[in-house]
Amino acid sequence: MHLHFLTFLFPLITSTVVSAATNISYAAWMADSGIRRNQANGINSSGKPQLIYDHGVFWEGLKQLYADTGNETYFEWILNGASNLVDEAGVIIGSYDPTQLDPLRVGPTFIYLYDKTGDEKWKTASTTLRSHLGPFPRTPEGQFWHKLSYVQQGWLDGIYMGDVFYSLFTKTWQPDNTTAWEDIELQFNVQYKNTIQNPDDGKTYTGLLYHGYDYSKAQPWASEDRGHSPEIWDRALGWYFMAMVDTLEIMGSPHVPGYKAIRKILQELAPRLVAAADPDSGVWWLVMTQPGRERNYFESSGTAMFIYSLLKALRLGYIHDTHTSTILKAAKKGYEYMTSTWVLPLEDGTFNWNATVQVGSLGGAGNYDYYVSVPIQLNDLKGQGAFLLASVEYERCRGR
Ligand SMILES: *[C@@H]1O[C@H](CO)[C@@H](O)[C@H](O)[C@H]1NC(C)=O
Ligand SMILES: *[C@@H]1O[C@H](CO)[C@@H](O)[C@H](O)[C@H]1NC(C)=O
Ligand SMILES: *[C@@H]1O[C@H](CO)[C@@H](O)[C@H](O)[C@H]1NC(C)=O
Ligand SMILES: *[C@@H]1O[C@H](CO)[C@@H](O)[C@H](O)[C@H]1NC(C)=O
Ligand SMILES: *[C@@H]1O[C@H](CO)[C@@H](O)[C@H](O)[C@H]1NC(C)=O
Repeated sequence: MHLHFLTFLFPLITSTVVSAATNISYAAWMADSGIRRNQANGINSSGKPQLIYDHGVFWEGLKQLYADTGNETYFEWILNGASNLVDEAGVIIGSYDPTQLDPLRVGPTFIYLYDKTGDEKWKTASTTLRSHLGPFPRTPEGQFWHKLSYVQQGWLDGIYMGDVFYSLFTKTWQPDNTTAWEDIELQFNVQYKNTIQNPDDGKTYTGLLYHGYDYSKAQPWASEDRGHSPEIWDRALGWYFMAMVDTLEIMGSPHVPGYKAIRKILQELAPRLVAAADPDSGVWWLVMTQPGRERNYFESSGTAMFIYSLLKALRLGYIHDTHTSTILKAAKKGYEYMTSTWVLPLEDGTFNWNATVQVGSLGGAGNYDYYVSVPIQLNDLKGQGAFLLASVEYERCRGR
C-alpha cells in the first residue's frame, strides 16, 4: 500500500516542483544524479583508471557549476576523479593512447586543477599530454589526424578533444607563442573548409559541417571534391561548436591570432544552426542532413551541445541576436524540450538522462543507415556532461 501511494504521488510532486518553482536547478540535479551513480570518477567499466573524454566533458560542467555555486562537492569530485589518473609525481597512471586526440580532452581538467591547487603534479601531467602534439601525425594541410589508425582524416570531434586543450595550455604557459595560436587557427579553418556542406549534395541543405573528411579520399565514404563524409551528424557538429566558444573564451581577446577567424565561422554558422532545428520541438535531428526520414530521431547530446554553445556565445558577445531575440528564443525552446522529454525522474530523487546516441564513427560506412543503427544509451556520460553545461548556461541567462 505504502509503495503504491509513493509511486502514485511522485510524478505529481515532480511536475509541481518543475512547473511552480521555475528556478529549479537542473544543473545541480544533473550533477547530483551523475555523482550518485558514481560516474565521471576516472575509472573505466573494467574498474581501471583511464583517460576517457566523457569524464572530461562532465568535469567541465562540474567546474562551471562549482564556479557558480561554490558547492565544494563538485570540486572534490573533479579532484578525486582526476587524482585516479595522475600520481603524486605527476606521472599519468591512467591508460590512454597518445596517438589519439580523444584522451587530450582530460587535459583542461589537469590545467584547471593546477590553477586551483598550485600542485606541480598537474602541470607535469599537462606537459606530458602537450608533448604528444609535437609528433602527432598531420595531413599535408597541417590538420591533426583524428587517430593514427584513421589515416589522413580530420573529424569535427577532434577539434574539441585536441584543440581546446592546446589553446588552454598555450594560454596558461606560452601566451606569446604565435606559432601555436596560428596552428590552432589552422585546425579550425582547415576542418571548416573541407567539411562545409555543398548546396547541391541531394540532401537537406543546412550550410553546416559534415562529420569529417579523408584528405587521401581512400575511404568509401569520401566525396570526390574534398573527401568529406556524406552526412551531418549532430554530435560531431556539437563538438565543433563547443570548441569554438570555449576557445574564444580561452583566447580572451581579438588580438590573439585566430580569434577573429573562429568568431567569423561562429557568426556564420550560428544562424544556420538555429534554422536547422525542428520547428515544432525546437531540437535537432541525429542526422541533420535528413530530417524526418524514417529511423532518424531527435538526439539529446548534440542538442545540449548546441544550446550550451548558443547561450554562451550570446552571453559573451561572440554573436549578436536579431532584434526579436531569435537565437535566445530558439535556445530556450530547445532547452525546455530537453527538460520535459529527456529528463526521466526516479524515485530516489535523481533522474535518468535519455536519447543520447552511444557513438558515431567514420571507421565504417559513415552513411545514414550506420548512424541510425547505433543504439541509444541511457545515462551516457557525454550526453549528461553536455546537458550539465547547457543547464549552467541556461541558469546564467535566467531573467533575460
Ligand atoms: C527566480 O530567480 C530570479 C532571478 O534570479 C528571481 O528574481 C526570482 O525571485 C526567483 N524566483 C523564485 C520563485 O525563486
Ligand atoms: C552540494 O552538492 C551535493 C551533490 O550534488 C549535494 O548533495 C549537496 O546538497 C549540495 N550542497 C548544497 C549546500 O547545496
Ligand atoms: C580499462 O583500462 C584498462 C587499463 O587501465 C584497459 O586494459 C581496459 O581495456 C579498459 N577497459 C575498457 C572497458 O576500456
Ligand atoms: C610554440 O608552439 C609551437 C607549435 O606548437 C611549438 O613547436 C613550440 O615548441 C612552442 N614554443 C615554445 C617556446 O614553447
Ligand atoms: C528514450 O528516448 C527514446 C528515443 O527518443 C524513446 O524512443 C524512448 O521512448 C525514450 N524513453 C523514455 C522512457 O522516455
